[in-house]
Amino acid sequence: MPQLASFDLSSRFSTLATTTAKLEVQLGRLRLRNPILVASGTFGYAREMAAFVDFAKIGGIIPKTITPVGRIGNPPPRTVETASGMLNSIGLDNDGLDTFITKHIPYLTSLAAPAFANIAGRTIEEYAEMARRLDEFPQLAGLELNISCPNVTGGVDFGTNPESAEKVVRSVREACSLPVVAKLTPNVTDITAVAKAAAAGGADAVSLVNTFQGMAINWRKRKPVLGNVLGGLSGPAIKPLALRCVYQVAKAVDIPIIGIGGISTIDDVMEFLVAGASAVQIGTANFYNPGVSARLVDELAAILAAEDCSDIHEIIGSIHRPPATGC
Ligand code: SIN
Repeated sequence: MPQLASFDLSSRFSTLATTTAKLEVQLGRLRLRNPILVASGTFGYAREMAAFVDFAKIGGIIPKTITPVGRIGNPPPRTVETASGMLNSIGLDNDGLDTFITKHIPYLTSLAAPAFANIAGRTIEEYAEMARRLDEFPQLAGLELNISCPNVTGGVDFGTNPESAEKVVRSVREACSLPVVAKLTPNVTDITAVAKAAAAGGADAVSLVNTFQGMAINWRKRKPVLGNVLGGLSGPAIKPLALRCVYQVAKAVDIPIIGIGGISTIDDVMEFLVAGASAVQIGTANFYNPGVSARLVDELAAILAAEDCSDIHEIIGSIHRPPATGC
């Protein structure tokens, strides 16, 4: 495996909040100025959001998943709003790794926020090869491995099996010296087993959860609404489910957790931190309020001050666990 360097991006990108509370968080080898990141698939390649978001505030940017070669994605309709959240079945529409390298990396790494790459392959070798090429860009904050997309067939749901999750993480770690975050799916019986496997494979952190598989039906037409029939549910409906996953994984692994799932308010952020997440990603909320992540950084600073906290670590994992009961 390559030598483990530490990636302290906290001083290069320091928080501009008006607070004395320390917001810096450590995600394995990666140190970030604050724990509010934006989630892959909800922020384009950041250009799309530049008019709306103060990049100098947020903790990090995770752009749309890239694959070795471009994909046109799934047939439309690819999104639908439900009563309680959004279903998507985009199918990893993206321009591919070469375009990411030539067009998006120069822009992303010029921004006032740390930028990751989020990658998916159809085979372990494809993940490793992408990681090898992205290793040439130490300006990146890290790699998030999408091993959890529910909307493609042919190999990218490595996260549904602990063994394959461990293998893919290990292959990326051996190919690349950037920090590695494994993004996990909730569509499994036991997410803690996959989180443990990712940790065993050498992940610096795990991010969870990706979307919950679901569907919408137009009963009058007797037809599924999404072109790909099934999709992934995100937004407020999944918050309690995601929180449960973070709580369980925090008890199971020692590596840091980035919580994702229906987060849109500062109370949501605090709940995930208290449950054991060291950072969070804002996803679906970006679609209806692109400035929400920067606002949450300010609100986080304010709420820590109101709570008399001098360091965010006083909050992370601070949940009181009731004694085990039952038969
Ligand atoms: C998609 O492109 O279908 C969504 C990506 C994901 O859920 O990982």
